[in-house]
Amino acid sequence: MPLTPTPADKFSFGLWTVGYNGTDPFGGPTRADLDVVHVVEKLAEAGAYGLTFHDDDLFPFGSTDEVRDSQISRLRGALDATGLVVPMVTTNLFSAPVFKDGGFTSNDRDVRRFALRKVLRNLDLAASLGAETFVMWGGREGAEYDSAKDIRQALERYREAVNLLGDYVTDKGYNIRFAIEPKPNEPRGDILLPTVGHALAFIETLERPELVGVNPEVGHEQMAGLNFAAGIAQALYQGKLFHIDLNGQRGIKYDQDLVFGHGDLQNAFALVDLLENGGPNGGQTYTGPRHFDYKPSRTEDETGVWESAAANMRTYLLLKERAAAFRADPEVQEALAASRVDELSTNTLGEGETYDDFLADRSAYEDFDANAYFNGKGFGFVRLQQLALEHLMGARG
Ligand code: GCO
Ligand code: MN
Ligand code: MN
Repeated sequence: MPLTPTPADKFSFGLWTVGYNGTDPFGGPTRADLDVVHVVEKLAEAGAYGLTFHDDDLFPFGSTDEVRDSQISRLRGALDATGLVVPMVTTNLFSAPVFKDGGFTSNDRDVRRFALRKVLRNLDLAASLGAETFVMWGGREGAEYDSAKDIRQALERYREAVNLLGDYVTDKGYNIRFAIEPKPNEPRGDILLPTVGHALAFIETLERPELVGVNPEVGHEQMAGLNFAAGIAQALYQGKLFHIDLNGQRGIKYDQDLVFGHGDLQNAFALVDLLENGGPNGGQTYTGPRHFDYKPSRTEDETGVWESAAANMRTYLLLKERAAAFRADPEVQEALAASRVDELSTNTLGEGETYDDFLADRSAYEDFDANAYFNGKGFGFVRLQQLALEHLMGARG
């Protein structure tokens, strides 16, 4: 399997990712800002297929129309020259002071109206660039103090905003779907829609739920102590995996945004296996962009920026290769069968079986030997996991 990325792999990067200049709450930049044209050229050279951005990444907040238009046309020129595409666009509703209490859910109504206008303007730009996904990460939608935010009303305002955006893209005929990106905290003490599960439940309350899915990020679910691959499986189950943010995180702490795989590698393996091999007949479950939302560590210079960008893609391809070898290994197939993984797809009741039939089935209860499960009938899950680990480590096939 080739380990050199090509556009067919659908790897995309945020302009703010490779463009991160190293600023953190304790220190200023350690690198120069990168120009968008240079970023597009470098990503194309590295084998990526897409660039994503926030409006404010491309033209600073408060730019004149002239600056905005010039930056957009510079981007378009670079896209045309390289063949890179813009599959996703997102709006910055978190950096400017005006958004200190959020955008869609600020207590200040004027701020909410301003935020919505900023998003509508950015949607027009997204459509004009051919983006099909519009991510909404509500980093400032939240609070530090319980009495300061009426959560039910905040959710109602969030709903109002997303409903309006759904009407807008529908009326304009834009081929755009929305993807909500959950995060439990940071920068707010508590963020609204903190996990994939919260977001999925919220989406069902919308007027056009079919237009809205999720953009889960590895590190964000792991900051909440959750199993990312399992969250992705539920998003897929509900038909809501519209986009994905891949990166690395080591445990419950601040958002590290490490390179994909530089965190919980076993879960990264399970994730790639799910995305690439979890579909019917072992095919893909997700065909959208493999989007990296990482930050090149502030210890790196620009050489390190491009090395880390390449590391994300190479790690993904290595995991894809390892997952394919895992699935192809006859011993793994045998272990999966012994663990009865497939049996879970058999209905618990028989076809047409009523509860009366069920109650009459003595083998299900009266004659069932539940004691046989004491020191017997083990599932062999540990052996299966060890096989996965050995494939991941390159110790098999
Ligand atoms: C973060 C988020 C962001 C979003 C981005 C897209 O924790 O900072 O992951 O990077 O992905 O704002 O909307
Ligand atoms: Mn993050
Ligand atoms: Mn993200």
